[in-house]
Amino acid sequence: MKSNNLTIFKEKLLHKGAEASLYYGHWFNKEVIFKQRIPKKYRIEKLDRAIRNLRTIKEARALIRVKEYGICVPQVYEINTDNSTIIMKYIEGQKLKNLLNVIDEKTKDRYFQILGDYIAKLHQTGQIHGDITTSNVIITETGKLFLIDFGLYENSDSIEDKSTDIHLLKRVLISSHGQDYNLCYQAFLTGYRDSYIDQKECNRIINNIAVIETRGRYIKKEQRQ
Ligand SMILES: Nc1ncnc2c1ncn2[C@@H]1O[C@H](COP(=O)(O)OP(=O)(O)O)[C@@H](O)[C@H]1O
Ligand SMILES: [Mg+2]
Repeated sequence: MKSNNLTIFKEKLLHKGAEASLYYGHWFNKEVIFKQRIPKKYRIEKLDRAIRNLRTIKEARALIRVKEYGICVPQVYEINTDNSTIIMKYIEGQKLKNLLNVIDEKTKDRYFQILGDYIAKLHQTGQIHGDITTSNVIITETGKLFLIDFGLYENSDSIEDKSTDIHLLKRVLISSHGQDYNLCYQAFLTGYRDSYIDQKECNRIINNIAVIETRGRYIKKEQRQ
């Protein structure tokens, strides 16, 4: 139907997260994702709406800003504050998480170096992704890497925040991709180091990851007593 080219519609629920539901659909003639933050019944309605809208705008702004640094992220087409929705480009591809079982070591090395490069570009401009996992990276058919899910994005220049950002990825690699952990993590650090202009700061960030881990073990030990 021709009129479909002039309409906006959700077609299929793809994912239901803790905060948002993600739908596949169309926005005029484009394939899109609707990321809609869902109401939380336990919050006062007016406050809930304000929180959802703030987070929606924050995430959309992050997606728009990050593009400036040459990082591939879905293009934002529309922000709707009536229903706390971001309408963004649908990225056709596979999650890095699922690809790890089928790609060779050379390809893994390449993808994680690119991811390291992306995160260095964010960190050295005071941006924290907040949820660097293998589920938040989509690889297209042509091998282009897209970073998604800026729901926990923050602005920060602190070494601790940057180390924590990387530490999350390290934990995900150890727990979900044990046999690939070493190769992937080293490739990530190579890409990160290569792109981080201030090498002194870069070393401080990477060295601080070990400090975070020592702290983690200490707390666990305390809890056991
Ligand atoms: N722009 C997009 N293109 C294609 N798939 C997407 C896009 N954005 C999200 N997804 C899919 O929806 C899932 C959840 O989206 P995400 O933004 O990570 O939400 P959550 O905050 O719930 O983790 C992703 O893992 C991915 O599979
Ligand atoms: Mg996600």
